[in-house]
Amino acid sequence: MQLGIVKETRPEERRVAASPTVVAKWVKGGWEVAIERGAGDSASYPDSQYEAAGAAVVDRQVAWGADIVVKLRPPVMHPDGTCEADQMREGATLISYIFPAESPALLERLAVKKVTVLAMDQVPRISRAQKMDALSSMANIAGYRSVIEAANRFGSFFTGQITAAGKVRPAKVLIIGGGVAGLAALGCAKGMGAIVRAFDVRPSVEDQVKSLGGEFLTVKIAESGEGQGGYAKEMSKEFLEAEYALFREQAKDVDIVITTALIPGKPAPKLWFADMVELMKPGSVIVDLAAEKGGNCELTKPGEVIEHKGVTIVGYTDLASRMPHVASDLYGTNLLHFLDEMGGAAGHKIDHENDAVRPALVLEKGVKSWPPPPMKKAEAPVAPSIRPSAAPALAPAPVPVATKAKSHGHGAAAKPPSKTVGMVMAGIGIVAAIAFVALRYGKADALASESTRELLQHLTVFVMAIFVGFQVVWNVAPALHTPLMSVTNAISGIIVVGGLLGTRTDGVLHSSTIVAIAATLFATINIAGGFLVTRRMLAMFRK
Ligand code: NAI
Repeated sequence: MQLGIVKETRPEERRVAASPTVVAKWVKGGWEVAIERGAGDSASYPDSQYEAAGAAVVDRQVAWGADIVVKLRPPVMHPDGTCEADQMREGATLISYIFPAESPALLERLAVKKVTVLAMDQVPRISRAQKMDALSSMANIAGYRSVIEAANRFGSFFTGQITAAGKVRPAKVLIIGGGVAGLAALGCAKGMGAIVRAFDVRPSVEDQVKSLGGEFLTVKIAESGEGQGGYAKEMSKEFLEAEYALFREQAKDVDIVITTALIPGKPAPKLWFADMVELMKPGSVIVDLAAEKGGNCELTKPGEVIEHKGVTIVGYTDLASRMPHVASDLYGTNLLHFLDEMGGAAGHKIDHENDAVRPALVLEKGVKSWPPPPMKKAEAPVAPSIRPSAAPALAPAPVPVATKAKSHGHGAAAKPPSKTVGMVMAGIGIVAAIAFVALRYGKADALASESTRELLQHLTVFVMAIFVGFQVVWNVAPALHTPLMSVTNAISGIIVVGGLLGTRTDGVLHSSTIVAIAATLFATINIAGGFLVTRRMLAMFRK
């Protein structure tokens, strides 16, 4: 099966759809990879590296003629109505960003070629699809880069310093919107030593902000902005007024504002008005990540950097493309997982029941397949803020790592136990209660036995432990799972000691000895497992 990687043609685009590392994995997986000559040049991936990875470096038409063509940006439509994807073969597949709701002319053109089109921007925000979520990968980079852009234009340190020449206070950074980009910006600014505050309309973001060392700002209006799929909804006028008042206060104090607020399917909400810009100190910087969708700041000019009364406003719409090397590698890795999800080179097919792939299917052999039907067993979408891919590299605090922690985004609020689990727990409780009453107050001979009484005691503790343990684990926010693991390891240590003490050595196999051995075994597994998980997590942060 041939895979063609074509060169991006938009002038501002420096990324390529895959790095040589990703290509090497494709080649190993049985794909025949062809890459357009010079496709990786602007991302600092020369052709020689792709050749070394096992790809053929080919002319443009050859790359576009592959069975599956991969790229990053949607194919460019020319003024005469033709399209760069016209070079594709009938029946071939294109995988790239498409933004189908905004690209009807492109879809019509692709349909004429009877091609199959999968949109990377439509991969759903569910745990399972986290590793394929290119939007999150790019938003993570954009968030990080927004801080670098701000620092580049800010005339002072981010971190506070005491020098022989005097004291420098740390920069104060305000982040509006704590989704993937906002949290990445927070981690980066915090890593650089700034004082960071963040505001979001979704209360579940609070835990995430705090876990990264930021201060979460609130307004005195009890309204949740939690919308569908972990995204935000539009807020009431009253809430927005309170939000603006908060921002007017902050404007006088902060040096850097990074805005990332987004409501799916709507233009960017206007949150930072001209008067707020004018309240800021000269030399302050605003980076508006929502510039492409109109901007969160009233004065933003998309794609440009302007100055208003001494305040710099950065409206770049290509922040991820400004870090093309890593962006190409991460996008390629998302593609790699997406193709694996579809069966890899040997078994490539589009499974309509696959809830990670079907939502991305826009055209199938030229037939429009978007918007997708509701999936039968759709997994609950994950909140955007806690995606592992969003873990900022400089985050000083334990980052909610790769668990959608957008597990590639579980919501910060813990999932309540399911009905079935609840019923099983209730069943165990009732059986234990009946056994307790029967043995304690019944006239059974068994009651006379000392060991039965002991067993009863252990059973009661056991059932109580299940109840308490279950409630604790289920109700702890994912962001706190790491400290929870330490606590459970400590408890397991106590259990091991208790188990050893409870093991009798009089030559008879008592029931309490069996329970003690089982408890020691399970607690040891828990301790060893805890160490292994910790090792894996630490390895993720090792350079
Ligand atoms: P996201 O959906 O994960 O996060 C957006 C956050 O804004 C959510 O947490 C939401 O609750 C919050 N929000 C919505 N309304 C709000 C309000 N009134 N006040 C405060 N918070 C509010 O989105 P993601 O992936 O983090 O992207 C953020 C923005 O960055 C998007 O507009 C995206 O298009 C843009 N972006 C820009 C790039 C660039 O180069 N400029 C590159 C990548 C993304």
